Amino acid sequence: MTDKIDSLKSEALAESANITDEKALEEFRLKYLGRNGLVNDLFEEFKKVDKESKGNLGKLLNDLKVSAQDIFNERKENLNLSVKKIEDYTDTTLPGFKNNIGTKHLINQALEEITSIFKKIGFNIHEGFEIEDEYHNFDALNTPDYHPSRDMQDTFYLESKGKDNSYLLRTHTSPGQIRVLEESKPPVRVLIPGKVYRNETVSSRSLAVFHQIEGLYVDKNVNFKELKGTLNYFANEFFGEKLRTRLRPSFFPFTEPSAEMDVECYLCEGKGCRICKYTGWLEILGCGMVNPKVFEKIGYDPEEYSGFAFGMGIERTLLNKYMIPDIRLFYENDVRFLKQF
Ligand code: DAH
Repeated sequence: MTDKIDSLKSEALAESANITDEKALEEFRLKYLGRNGLVNDLFEEFKKVDKESKGNLGKLLNDLKVSAQDIFNERKENLNLSVKKIEDYTDTTLPGFKNNIGTKHLINQALEEITSIFKKIGFNIHEGFEIEDEYHNFDALNTPDYHPSRDMQDTFYLESKGKDNSYLLRTHTSPGQIRVLEESKPPVRVLIPGKVYRNETVSSRSLAVFHQIEGLYVDKNVNFKELKGTLNYFANEFFGEKLRTRLRPSFFPFTEPSAEMDVECYLCEGKGCRICKYTGWLEILGCGMVNPKVFEKIGYDPEEYSGFAFGMGIERTLLNKYMIPDIRLFYENDVRFLKQF
């Protein structure tokens, strides 16, 4: 057995010179150091050797194993050293790889653009709460408890055991109006951007979570003319000066009178197309004068103060603006979609 050990040792040493690539290195490892390798075979044989010879042979066998391992380690290190040379694996004459730089999400871009338009005319930003109570989301906004939007079908209620007030995920950014008026005295000019939640079936046109921007201006003697002027200023800045706007009468419980604003379809410039359903107009927001009942509910004298409010959905506006066929694309995080904006 001593001879076998010796010859295996010299064999391994001789073979080490042939290890010039990773493949040969692996072959060497398998042949000598693997579980079914030659060194292990000798260890198997060693088990059958009689007791007296064990001491000496064991030492020799261990030496063999260590030498084979040393050869392996030394070759591995050498190979790696040569791999580390950049010229060996890189053609430095080829053009480099382009680093993709992240961009702001389309929704954030729009939120920033809209808020900056209003900041120029003195509006501040207020962050409302996404978890609201029924009082701020509905009651204080003059939305009676028989109003359909309070239905479980439309609103996500949260479990609020033992509390007088029911908690919910805000269905619009309008409760932010109440929060602002509770916190600060007029004049107030604020924008309240953020997520809102509705119990809607997700489809190509609607989502259960989307974004709105709310606006509120309250002071003494605020009138409808100022509402119209402010919204026209916004529409000109955001959609372009060429396009006309119009206000249509509408209804919201928290404004009186209420209106909806349309902008001339920016795709066909009012001629009529598929997007504007051949009307030439696209609805962009709801608005109105703050309902005196809202002022009364939160302890403001409607004879002293007046104000206007407006609210718009961001995703819907962007769907039209960029002719995006499916609202779900906003949230799929597919960079091929996102990097177009
Ligand atoms: N909160 C309304 C909605 O979600 C939008 C709205 C309409 C907000 C009129 C307003 C407003 O502030 O005056 O549909």
